[in-house]
Amino acid sequence: MTSDEQRLRLITTEDGSHSLYVPDLNETYHSFHGALQESDHVFIKTGLDHFARNHPQDMINVLEIGLGTGLNALLTAYWSHERKRPVRMTSVEAFPVSWQLASQLNYPEKIPSPDAAEWFGEIHNSPWEKDNSIHKLFSLKKVRARLQDHKLPANEYNVVFFDAFAPSKQSELWEPEILRKVFVSLMTHSVFVTYCAKGQLKRDLKAIGYDIETLPGPPGKKEMVRGTKPDDN
Ligand SMILES: C[S@@+](CC[C@H](N)C(=O)[O-])C[C@H]1O[C@@H](n2cnc3c(N)ncnc32)[C@H](O)[C@@H]1O
Repeated sequence: MTSDEQRLRLITTEDGSHSLYVPDLNETYHSFHGALQESDHVFIKTGLDHFARNHPQDMINVLEIGLGTGLNALLTAYWSHERKRPVRMTSVEAFPVSWQLASQLNYPEKIPSPDAAEWFGEIHNSPWEKDNSIHKLFSLKKVRARLQDHKLPANEYNVVFFDAFAPSKQSELWEPEILRKVFVSLMTHSVFVTYCAKGQLKRDLKAIGYDIETLPGPPGKKEMVRGTKPDDN
Protein backbone atom coordinates (compact mmCIF):
# COMPACT_ATOMS: atom_id res chain seq x y z
CA MET A 1 0.00 0.00 0.00
CA THR A 2 1.41 3.43 -0.96
CA SER A 3 1.40 6.26 1.58
CA ASP A 4 -1.26 8.03 -0.55
CA GLU A 5 -3.54 5.05 -0.27
CA GLN A 6 -3.19 5.29 3.48
CA ARG A 7 -3.77 9.04 3.76
CA LEU A 8 -6.36 9.64 1.00
CA ARG A 9 -9.56 8.00 -0.24
CA LEU A 10 -11.18 8.49 -3.61
CA ILE A 11 -14.83 9.57 -3.36
CA THR A 12 -17.57 10.51 -5.84
CA THR A 13 -19.28 13.87 -5.27
CA GLU A 14 -22.88 14.72 -6.11
CA ASP A 15 -22.19 15.95 -9.66
CA GLY A 16 -20.50 12.61 -10.47
CA SER A 17 -16.95 13.97 -10.38
CA HIS A 18 -14.40 12.44 -8.06
CA SER A 19 -12.61 14.04 -5.15
CA LEU A 20 -10.33 12.88 -2.35
CA TYR A 21 -11.14 12.46 1.31
CA VAL A 22 -8.49 12.91 4.02
CA PRO A 23 -9.48 10.73 7.00
CA ASP A 24 -6.90 12.34 9.30
CA LEU A 25 -8.48 15.78 8.80
CA ASN A 26 -12.02 14.56 8.14
CA GLU A 27 -11.87 16.88 5.13
CA THR A 28 -12.41 16.57 1.38
CA TYR A 29 -10.42 18.23 -1.41
CA HIS A 30 -13.64 19.70 -2.85
CA SER A 31 -17.28 20.29 -1.99
CA PHE A 32 -19.19 17.07 -1.50
CA HIS A 33 -21.97 18.72 -3.54
CA GLY A 34 -19.81 18.58 -6.67
CA ALA A 35 -16.07 18.91 -7.15
CA LEU A 36 -16.18 19.92 -10.78
CA GLN A 37 -19.07 22.36 -10.27
CA GLU A 38 -17.29 23.98 -7.35
CA SER A 39 -13.96 24.42 -9.13
CA ASP A 40 -15.61 25.69 -12.27
CA HIS A 41 -17.79 28.18 -10.40
CA VAL A 42 -15.33 29.53 -7.81
CA PHE A 43 -12.04 29.52 -9.63
CA ILE A 44 -12.78 29.51 -13.37
CA LYS A 45 -15.97 31.57 -13.73
CA THR A 46 -15.66 33.93 -10.75
CA GLY A 47 -11.87 34.23 -10.87
CA LEU A 48 -10.25 33.61 -14.23
CA ASP A 49 -13.17 34.48 -16.49
CA HIS A 50 -13.96 37.63 -14.53
CA PHE A 51 -10.38 38.87 -14.74
CA ALA A 52 -10.11 37.95 -18.42
CA ARG A 53 -13.25 39.92 -19.32
CA ASN A 54 -11.79 43.05 -17.73
CA HIS A 55 -8.34 42.52 -19.26
CA PRO A 56 -9.02 41.22 -22.76
CA GLN A 57 -5.53 41.57 -24.23
CA ASP A 58 -3.06 40.16 -21.79
CA MET A 59 -1.47 36.87 -20.85
CA ILE A 60 -2.88 35.81 -17.49
CA ASN A 61 -0.63 34.83 -14.62
CA VAL A 62 -2.40 32.51 -12.15
CA LEU A 63 -1.20 31.48 -8.69
CA GLU A 64 -2.84 28.48 -7.09
CA ILE A 65 -2.48 27.50 -3.46
CA GLY A 66 -2.82 23.72 -3.39
CA LEU A 67 -2.44 21.83 -6.70
CA GLY A 68 -4.10 18.81 -5.06
CA THR A 69 -5.86 16.60 -7.60
CA GLY A 70 -4.94 18.94 -10.47
CA LEU A 71 -8.62 19.68 -11.18
CA ASN A 72 -8.22 23.46 -11.17
CA ALA A 73 -5.13 23.16 -13.36
CA LEU A 74 -6.98 20.94 -15.84
CA LEU A 75 -9.97 23.32 -15.98
CA THR A 76 -7.58 26.21 -16.52
CA ALA A 77 -5.85 24.33 -19.35
CA TYR A 78 -9.24 23.72 -20.95
CA TRP A 79 -10.34 27.35 -20.48
CA SER A 80 -7.13 28.66 -22.03
CA HIS A 81 -7.52 26.32 -25.01
CA GLU A 82 -11.18 27.22 -25.59
CA ARG A 83 -10.70 30.98 -25.13
CA LYS A 84 -7.40 31.02 -26.97
CA ARG A 85 -5.90 33.00 -24.08
CA PRO A 86 -2.37 32.38 -22.89
CA VAL A 87 -2.19 31.42 -19.22
CA ARG A 88 0.86 30.87 -17.09
CA MET A 89 0.01 29.07 -13.88
CA THR A 90 2.09 28.48 -10.75
CA SER A 91 0.78 26.04 -8.18
CA VAL A 92 2.22 25.63 -4.70
CA GLU A 93 1.74 22.19 -3.18
CA ALA A 94 3.29 20.73 -0.04
CA PHE A 95 1.95 17.16 -0.21
CA PRO A 96 1.52 16.05 -3.84
CA VAL A 97 -0.97 13.39 -4.84
CA SER A 98 0.75 10.44 -6.53
CA TRP A 99 0.00 9.71 -10.19
CA GLN A 100 -1.02 6.23 -9.10
CA LEU A 101 -3.97 7.80 -7.28
CA ALA A 102 -4.54 10.85 -9.54
CA SER A 103 -4.79 8.65 -12.64
CA GLN A 104 -7.93 7.09 -11.12
CA LEU A 105 -9.74 10.46 -10.99
CA ASN A 106 -12.45 10.85 -13.64
CA TYR A 107 -11.72 14.50 -14.51
CA PRO A 108 -10.43 14.04 -18.09
CA GLU A 109 -13.62 12.24 -19.12
CA LYS A 110 -15.69 15.17 -17.79
CA ILE A 111 -13.87 17.71 -19.97
CA PRO A 112 -15.15 17.96 -23.55
CA SER A 113 -11.74 17.90 -25.20
CA PRO A 114 -9.95 14.89 -26.73
CA ASP A 115 -6.71 16.30 -25.28
CA ALA A 116 -7.88 16.40 -21.65
CA ALA A 117 -6.34 13.06 -20.65
CA GLU A 118 -2.98 14.06 -22.11
CA TRP A 119 -3.08 17.46 -20.33
CA PHE A 120 -3.99 15.79 -17.04
CA GLY A 121 -1.07 13.36 -17.35
CA GLU A 122 1.29 16.27 -18.09
CA ILE A 123 -0.05 18.27 -15.14
CA HIS A 124 0.84 15.45 -12.77
CA ASN A 125 3.95 14.03 -14.36
CA SER A 126 5.80 17.15 -15.51
CA PRO A 127 8.82 18.13 -13.42
CA TRP A 128 8.58 20.40 -10.39
CA GLU A 129 10.13 23.87 -10.09
CA LYS A 130 10.06 24.70 -13.81
CA ASP A 131 7.60 26.06 -16.39
CA ASN A 132 6.12 23.13 -18.30
CA SER A 133 4.20 23.65 -21.51
CA ILE A 134 0.97 21.65 -21.10
CA HIS A 135 -0.32 22.93 -24.44
CA LYS A 136 0.56 25.79 -26.78
CA LEU A 137 -1.15 28.43 -24.62
CA PHE A 138 -0.90 26.99 -21.12
CA SER A 139 2.15 26.48 -18.95
CA LEU A 140 2.32 25.16 -15.40
CA LYS A 141 5.04 25.55 -12.81
CA LYS A 142 4.55 23.28 -9.82
CA VAL A 143 6.32 24.41 -6.67
CA ARG A 144 6.80 21.75 -4.03
CA ALA A 145 6.77 23.74 -0.82
CA ARG A 146 4.70 24.76 2.14
CA LEU A 147 3.17 28.14 1.40
CA GLN A 148 4.47 29.37 4.77
CA ASP A 149 8.05 28.69 3.61
CA HIS A 150 7.77 29.76 0.00
CA LYS A 151 8.85 33.24 -1.06
CA LEU A 152 6.38 34.68 -3.57
CA PRO A 153 7.49 37.32 -6.09
CA ALA A 154 5.97 40.80 -5.66
CA ASN A 155 3.48 42.23 -8.21
CA GLU A 156 3.44 39.09 -10.30
CA TYR A 157 0.04 37.42 -10.41
CA ASN A 158 -3.34 38.39 -11.88
CA VAL A 159 -5.57 35.72 -10.33
CA VAL A 160 -5.09 33.71 -7.14
CA PHE A 161 -6.97 30.46 -6.64
CA PHE A 162 -6.79 30.21 -2.84
CA ASP A 163 -7.71 26.55 -2.40
CA ALA A 164 -6.24 25.51 0.93
CA PHE A 165 -8.19 23.19 3.23
CA ALA A 166 -10.85 24.97 5.28
CA PRO A 167 -9.75 27.37 8.06
CA SER A 168 -11.27 25.01 10.65
CA LYS A 169 -8.92 22.25 9.41
CA GLN A 170 -5.83 24.21 8.48
CA SER A 171 -5.93 27.60 10.16
CA GLU A 172 -2.23 28.34 9.57
CA LEU A 173 -2.77 29.00 5.84
CA TRP A 174 -5.51 31.56 6.55
CA GLU A 175 -3.44 33.68 8.94
CA PRO A 176 -3.29 37.40 8.03
CA GLU A 177 0.49 37.13 7.60
CA ILE A 178 0.06 34.48 4.87
CA LEU A 179 -2.84 36.30 3.23
CA ARG A 180 -0.76 39.49 3.17
CA LYS A 181 2.12 37.67 1.47
CA VAL A 182 -0.30 36.56 -1.25
CA PHE A 183 -1.68 40.11 -1.56
CA VAL A 184 1.82 41.50 -2.15
CA SER A 185 2.36 38.96 -4.94
CA LEU A 186 -0.66 40.32 -6.87
CA MET A 187 -0.60 43.10 -9.43
CA THR A 188 -3.14 45.91 -9.04
CA HIS A 189 -6.65 45.06 -10.30
CA SER A 190 -5.86 41.41 -9.77
CA VAL A 191 -8.27 39.06 -8.03
CA PHE A 192 -8.15 36.59 -5.16
CA VAL A 193 -10.90 33.95 -5.14
CA THR A 194 -11.78 31.32 -2.59
CA TYR A 195 -14.68 29.05 -1.73
CA CYS A 196 -14.56 30.24 1.89
CA ALA A 197 -16.88 33.07 2.95
CA LYS A 198 -16.25 33.24 6.68
CA GLY A 199 -16.68 36.65 8.32
CA GLN A 200 -13.18 36.54 9.82
CA LEU A 201 -11.63 35.92 6.41
CA LYS A 202 -13.54 38.84 4.89
CA ARG A 203 -12.45 41.14 7.71
CA ASP A 204 -8.83 40.04 7.33
CA LEU A 205 -8.83 40.48 3.55
CA LYS A 206 -10.37 43.93 3.92
CA ALA A 207 -7.80 44.96 6.55
CA ILE A 208 -5.01 43.79 4.22
CA GLY A 209 -6.32 46.09 1.49
CA TYR A 210 -8.63 44.14 -0.81
CA ASP A 211 -11.98 45.35 -2.08
CA ILE A 212 -14.22 42.48 -1.05
CA GLU A 213 -17.28 41.00 -2.77
CA THR A 214 -19.42 38.27 -1.26
CA LEU A 215 -20.82 36.39 -4.24
CA PRO A 216 -23.14 33.41 -4.74
CA GLY A 217 -21.33 30.14 -4.08
CA PRO A 218 -21.39 26.93 -6.12
CA PRO A 219 -24.33 24.50 -5.82
CA GLY A 220 -24.80 23.57 -2.15
CA LYS A 221 -22.82 26.56 -0.82
CA LYS A 222 -24.43 29.91 -0.24
CA GLU A 223 -21.49 32.26 -0.67
CA MET A 224 -17.91 32.66 -1.79
CA VAL A 225 -15.45 35.55 -1.68
CA ARG A 226 -13.61 37.55 -4.29
CA GLY A 227 -11.05 40.18 -3.35
CA THR A 228 -9.70 42.71 -5.83
CA LYS A 229 -6.44 44.55 -5.28
CA PRO A 230 -7.21 48.26 -5.68
CA ASP A 231 -5.10 50.94 -7.37
CA ASP A 232 -3.26 52.51 -4.48
CA ASN A 233 -1.55 49.44 -2.99
C1 LIG B 1 -8.45 21.74 -0.94
S1 LIG B 1 -7.02 20.89 -1.49
C2 LIG B 1 -6.65 21.60 -3.07
C3 LIG B 1 -7.52 21.15 -4.20
C4 LIG B 1 -6.90 21.44 -5.52
N1 LIG B 1 -6.83 22.83 -5.84
C5 LIG B 1 -7.56 20.64 -6.61
O1 LIG B 1 -7.92 21.22 -7.67
O2 LIG B 1 -7.70 19.44 -6.39
C6 LIG B 1 -5.75 21.65 -0.49
C7 LIG B 1 -4.34 21.33 -0.94
O3 LIG B 1 -3.41 22.10 -0.19
C8 LIG B 1 -2.27 21.29 0.05
N2 LIG B 1 -1.55 21.82 1.22
C9 LIG B 1 -1.73 21.49 2.51
N3 LIG B 1 -0.91 22.22 3.28
C10 LIG B 1 -0.20 23.02 2.47
C11 LIG B 1 0.81 24.00 2.69
N4 LIG B 1 1.23 24.29 3.94
N5 LIG B 1 1.32 24.64 1.63
C12 LIG B 1 0.91 24.34 0.37
N6 LIG B 1 -0.06 23.41 0.11
C13 LIG B 1 -0.60 22.77 1.13
C14 LIG B 1 -2.85 19.91 0.27
O4 LIG B 1 -1.89 18.91 0.10
C15 LIG B 1 -3.96 19.87 -0.77
O5 LIG B 1 -3.49 19.37 -1.99
